This record gives sequence, C-alpha cells and structure tokens, in this order.
Amino acid sequence: MDLVGRCRELAALSEEAGALTRPFASPAMAAANALVAEWMEHAGMETRSDAAGNLIGHLPGSDLGAGVLLLGSHLDTVRDAGAFDGALGVVVAIACAERLRAEEITLPFALDVYGFADEEGLRYGAAYLGSRAVAGAFDPGLFALADADGIHLRDALTAFGGDPVAIASAARPDAIGYLEVHMEQGPVLERAGVPVGVVTAIAGQTRAEVTFTGEAGHAGTVPMAARRDAACALAEFVLAVEAEGRREPGLVATVGRLSALPGAPNAVPGEARGSLDARHPDDAVRAAAAAALLDRATAIGVRRQVGVRWEPRMDAPGVAMDPRLTAVLAGAAPGAPHLPSGAGHDAVALAGAMPVGMLFVRCAGGVSHTPAEAVDAADADASLDVLFRAVCALAAP
Ligand code: HGY
Ligand code: MN
Ligand code: MN
Repeated sequence: MDLVGRCRELAALSEEAGALTRPFASPAMAAANALVAEWMEHAGMETRSDAAGNLIGHLPGSDLGAGVLLLGSHLDTVRDAGAFDGALGVVVAIACAERLRAEEITLPFALDVYGFADEEGLRYGAAYLGSRAVAGAFDPGLFALADADGIHLRDALTAFGGDPVAIASAARPDAIGYLEVHMEQGPVLERAGVPVGVVTAIAGQTRAEVTFTGEAGHAGTVPMAARRDAACALAEFVLAVEAEGRREPGLVATVGRLSALPGAPNAVPGEARGSLDARHPDDAVRAAAAAALLDRATAIGVRRQVGVRWEPRMDAPGVAMDPRLTAVLAGAAPGAPHLPSGAGHDAVALAGAMPVGMLFVRCAGGVSHTPAEAVDAADADASLDVLFRAVCALAAP
C-alpha cells in the first residue's frame, strides 16, 4: 500500500485552493471522510459515522466479549497544513486492518479505526472535539461556540450529519485501548537516524482567546495621545507571551492567530483578538504561566484604558502513555527511542477513558503544520510493521 501516496491524495481535499485547510464539519471534511471510507471498505471494514462526526471503520473480532481496540488519528487539519499530520495515522491503521485480513488473521477483539472529526480546534478553538465524545467527556457548553462566520458548533455538527442531542452515543465503554501512529512533528528521530519512536507522555496544553477593546477612529485625525488602540494592546500582549515562554524553561507559548477590527488601513483598531497556546510537561508550571499572562493582559488593559476579555478554550492536562501499551509498542519496535510529545494528540482526550499508546514516525526536518511536512515511504512502512506486530502481540494469549 502506498501510505505516503494516500496521505498526499487526502491532502487535495481542502476548503482552500492551493493550500490544505480542512476544518471540522466542513465540505472538505465530508469529502475526506468519503474517500477514507472507501479505503476502509476496500480493507474489508464496515464503515459508519458517529454523532460527533467521527468516521469509523470496523473489523470484527472472533470473541464478542473481547472488546474493541481503537486505532486511528484525526482527519482535520490546521490552516495551510502539511499532508501527514493526522492523515498518516489513519492510513497506517487502515493498512494494518488490511494486512490482518490479507494474512487471514482474526483477532479476538474487534478493531475500530477512527478518523477523528477535529483534533486541531481550527474552526472553534477547542481541540479534540471528536475524541472527547469518544471518551464520553464532551462538554455540552462547547455546542454554543461560534466560528468566524457566527455558525454555532451545534448547527455545524447537525448540518454535517452529526447528532448533538445524541453526542453521548459516541462514547466507547467497550474500548480496551487506543493506539495511534503519528508523525513526530519534531527533530528527535531524524537526529537519531531512526524511523520510529515510542511516545512516553504528551505535554499539557492551555488555549484561550484574548480580546482587547479600545476605540476605533480615523487614522488621520485622532491624535496619538488620545488613542485607545486595541491592536497596540494586543501587540504588547504578544511580546509578553514570548517573554514568558523564554523566561520559563520548557515552556512554549504562542499567539498564532491575530485579528484587528475594523481592519481598514486608515482606521485605528477598536478591537483586537489573539489566540493563546501555552504548553509545558508540568501542569503546575503551565497553569502558573497562563495565570501570569492573564495578569499581564489585565495590566495592559488598565494602562492603555482598553477592555480585556479572556475566554478559556482548553485546559488539557499532560498525560502519560499506558505502560502496557507502551511496552507492547516497544517490543514491536526493538531499539526504538522513547520520547515525549510536545504536540497534542487525540490520545490526550482518550486517556481519561482507556489505556492509550502512541508511535512516532520520523519526519523531514521535524517540521509540521506547514506544507513542508514530509514522511519517507520506508518510514511509513516501518510504522505499519510495528503497529501490526503490536496489535498481534496484544491478541496473543
Ligand atoms: O496543536 C497540537 O499540538 C496538535 O497538532 N493539534
Ligand atoms: Mn496538528
Ligand atoms: Mn496531529
């Protein structure tokens, strides 16, 4: 199977011409689900979608009492994304199911391969929407979130074919665990010269939207001393975020999306909005950094006489991978390094409901969240071999 080719084929399904952008519950997402469902069915799986908009390919096991092992990753992307973040894990999981069938191996437990509906949080700012539902931990308050066009999450999910009222039905109490293959999105494996690595833990993540509200005005007539320029307040906050990230060892802090209104070259911005993403392996350090940045935003608002609105979007604690699944992956990948993940994954949301394990795949230059993402075909194949051996090892008596 051409795993890299399939990732590149999926990458053509986007809401933007010339770039890969595939948000939650978008037409591009529907097209991706349709293509992946074809691949799942070709692999001998029955396909369905759940109330959260996740795509699921099912391969029955021999023992109905043995539960279901979940595999997969996410099919949504960031804006102007690369072809492998999420997609690689889905195509490798499908190939694993296909190989089991080709080798006429029937596992005692069933396999459910997931294409999760929203790991990135691009459209609504809150990540893990699909996997939270599978974990039985979907916060109904999220349904009220509005996207940039004012479409509420509840309405977007309904229009996509999901069922907000029945969101609880997406939970999987029958799951015996979750294994995810994912590109590393970092340089460790490439520097070590190895194709795969076993993930030990995933860093915690804080996300928030920060809005400064000043006073719009004519750029040509409002004197500098009379301004309450919201964009200048946001700019000061962005530099404060950078300074906090540089000050605290191991902390990464980013304002990745900024906007200013009315957005005219000759108008003083009356409103400016930025996204905060802060992460650290230690949850207490991350929480302290987020609190310090809230204080800084408030102080900026007071000094500049602008309003400040801080809207939490996510507080995902760091999670350790399950020891047994990690040992099984390590046994299937002898000599592979063990490493933590600075990037978040659906495994974070699922960890509260089932044992989770992850396998990383080497990626060129360690870059991700850009069209420059690249994974070598031989490395993708190596990850499939490891996943196949791990799944078979889990089935061994
Ligand atoms: O943001 C992340 O860490 C992941 O790529 N969603
Ligand atoms: Mn990502
Ligand atoms: Mn990802």
